[in-house]
Amino acid sequence: MTVNPSQTVNQSEAIPLDVNRIRADFPILSRTVNGKPLVYLDNAATTQKPTKVIDAVKNVYESMNANIHRGVHRLSVETTKAYENARLQAARLINAEKHTEIIFVRGATEGINLVAQTFGRKQVGEGDEIIVSNLEHHANIVPWQILCEQTGAQLKVVPVDDDGNVLVDEYRKLLSDKTRIVAMLQSSNALGTVVPVEEITRLAHEYGAKVLIDGSQSVQHNAVDVRAIDCDFFVFSGHKMYAPSGIGVLYGKESLLLDMPPYQGGGEMIKSVTFEQTIYNDLPHKFEAGTPNIEGAIGLGAAIEYLQGIGLSRIAAYEKELLEYATAQLSKIPEVRLIGTAREKVSVLSFVVEGIHPHDIGTILDQEGVAIRTGHHCAQPTMQRFGVPATARASMCFYNTKEEIDRLVEAVQTVIKVFA
Ligand code: ALA
Repeated sequence: MTVNPSQTVNQSEAIPLDVNRIRADFPILSRTVNGKPLVYLDNAATTQKPTKVIDAVKNVYESMNANIHRGVHRLSVETTKAYENARLQAARLINAEKHTEIIFVRGATEGINLVAQTFGRKQVGEGDEIIVSNLEHHANIVPWQILCEQTGAQLKVVPVDDDGNVLVDEYRKLLSDKTRIVAMLQSSNALGTVVPVEEITRLAHEYGAKVLIDGSQSVQHNAVDVRAIDCDFFVFSGHKMYAPSGIGVLYGKESLLLDMPPYQGGGEMIKSVTFEQTIYNDLPHKFEAGTPNIEGAIGLGAAIEYLQGIGLSRIAAYEKELLEYATAQLSKIPEVRLIGTAREKVSVLSFVVEGIHPHDIGTILDQEGVAIRTGHHCAQPTMQRFGVPATARASMCFYNTKEEIDRLVEAVQTVIKVFA
């Protein structure tokens, strides 16, 4: 079935966000931490869930719960329909041509490992090369290192400049006839950098290499179109885009998925089994062995509907405004050094304060009710590039407000006074 792309367009895109109304959709945002109203600025680690998503999951257990694709009884039929509808919604979200190109996985990590161990094991050999950038999350480094160990291929790394921009000219120099796979994130979880993935993909294709884009930090911030990018694979995680944990999506071009061996064996991924021979199932089921995260997928569908109801271009415009405000406010504190000031960024602000460990910053901020992440953000090579072991990171989204940014800034000033 071909997916209708028009569903991603929201009629009210021009109307600014009503943030207070949006905040009321997220029950957790009204709680307190240490006696203060919660300021949740750890959205790159995981986002909070709107009532629509919570209710969708609750509704599965309260009114339809059954295993999918296996029963003729009413509950199984209803649950299967809801699960498969979520696949259609995911296909529309990223403008995949066919819903059968959407494989449900546990998250982006599993999607990347799946590609490395099926496509990679089949197509990559000794002397071949795989290119990643210096900004990758460990999930887009380690699976390729494992593949290199297994096959004798080599990992090449595209450097970044001092602002955190990926150096496309250096990337061009790394590309060659030996390049088999280019694996790159669309936006960095550690610094916020947006990578020009269309150009990255076009250049890789000139050498016949296949491209996997990690969309873990992009699908929740901007409208994504895998056909416009022309990437061969695309992955994202549900929990970072307002959906439940343990569900994510691997998109692959049909021709590639058809040619790939299965990742795991088990129920659901087969058409028939005898001790002599097993015939694998059609797409997408060939890659979904075992009972999947049914309620997670249905929750993901609800999250997609919620995001599209608001409109991704409105979300992008509002988050840009928040990022600019937060960057300006934090930059006014002389002791703060921003890490990652790329030309184009999603709403992630990494920073360090001279002489104060990021964990101490995070702990004191927590006393003030402000939740940020501190550490290496699963991107140790990025930290090494910038000569820091860790950063403090405020990652914002459309339910955050300028008042919350002010609370962050005040809390950082408190940290500096405590350590003065
Ligand atoms: N990768 C997630 C983060 O950036 C967990 O925090």
